[in-house]
Amino acid sequence: MRAAAAVAAAVAALLLFAVAALPTQDPGASVGPVQAVRELLGAGASGSEAAAAAAAARRNAAGLPLLTPTKTQLSTGHELFYESPPRPVGLLLILHKCGRSGSDHWPRSQPCPDCLGLPHSLAKTKQALSRGYAVAAMSSLDRRAGGGGRCFAWAADARAAAEVVRSLPRTLRLPAGAPVYVDGASSGGSIALRLASIVDFNGAIGEVIAPPGLPEMLEKMEADLFPSISPTLSASLHQQLEQLGLLDAKGFISADPGTAAWDTFKSQVASFAALRKLLTGMKAAQREQDVRLVDKHIWECILLAWARHETVGEHMTAALVWLEGGGRQDIGRLVSRYRPARLAALAVNTSGPAWRVAPPSPPPPA
Ligand SMILES: *[C@@H]1O[C@H](CO)[C@@H](O)[C@H](O)[C@H]1NC(C)=O
Repeated sequence: MRAAAAVAAAVAALLLFAVAALPTQDPGASVGPVQAVRELLGAGASGSEAAAAAAAARRNAAGLPLLTPTKTQLSTGHELFYESPPRPVGLLLILHKCGRSGSDHWPRSQPCPDCLGLPHSLAKTKQALSRGYAVAAMSSLDRRAGGGGRCFAWAADARAAAEVVRSLPRTLRLPAGAPVYVDGASSGGSIALRLASIVDFNGAIGEVIAPPGLPEMLEKMEADLFPSISPTLSASLHQQLEQLGLLDAKGFISADPGTAAWDTFKSQVASFAALRKLLTGMKAAQREQDVRLVDKHIWECILLAWARHETVGEHMTAALVWLEGGGRQDIGRLVSRYRPARLAALAVNTSGPAWRVAPPSPPPPA
């Protein structure tokens, strides 16, 4: 989003903790990819192995198109969304901040009409899947909309999150000893950081949450963020921000997005009618046309640009690499090396071994 690039220079706090690696997983049954390939071949792929492999790379372990989560309800009533490569190398469990949902981490699709695909949340999913991780995102039990709703709370949610950490690796057939990491933002981060007191796992990421006394990683953010916002829409938003005096001379946001100074922007630009008009020029197949969703996407960006208690998707790969290395590598270097050049352009990289499905076994001799 060009507006974001001009506006941004945002600062987002990200905290990482490596928890001593502990063998928590049962050595579950080995993956049986043959069935998946057969299904793909049966589903009308050309029949050649190359075509089958290409088709397989666009499917997740459940045989669904990439970025389609499986939704399940835990016995505790929590909803859980998850997706895994055919051969996951580990598990990342994501716990959202207040007001959000597990389904924010996947794009809206016919199988997941409730999915919002919030840009930063979705970027986390894409990066983790690209690195071979299965991704799971749980919703807090509290599903009340509005201020103070949809927050994680220790009493209501910790045991369920611990149960996911314990049992999902088996469901997903993670190899024995594969790491499990928990990422949480704000109220979800509070759970992530405390969860190791009741269940063993390998590392935690806390965003916009910190136990006192720990150093924070402050990172500048400048990127094209939104697949759902066209350059035209972006330029238009930027112009509105300028005209309303919401940017300073350097193009930085000049007022807290939570204040009344933004009311005009909200009504003029983020109003459904105005946005709808801006969206009509975009190709339906490429761009999110849902006004409500795009409004949410714009606000996630603006809040992050102001560093206002927002989740951040820029550093997921760096965070995973840091955790994999037991927290010993220089996080600043990892961030420079693994920062996505363009968040909006991030796709799931399926060329790694986690996505390679074994060729089908030869037919038995006649
Ligand atoms: C995709 O993953 C492969 C294998 O892990 C890696 O070699 C390649 O550089 C990655 N490509 C991109 C664009 O990240």
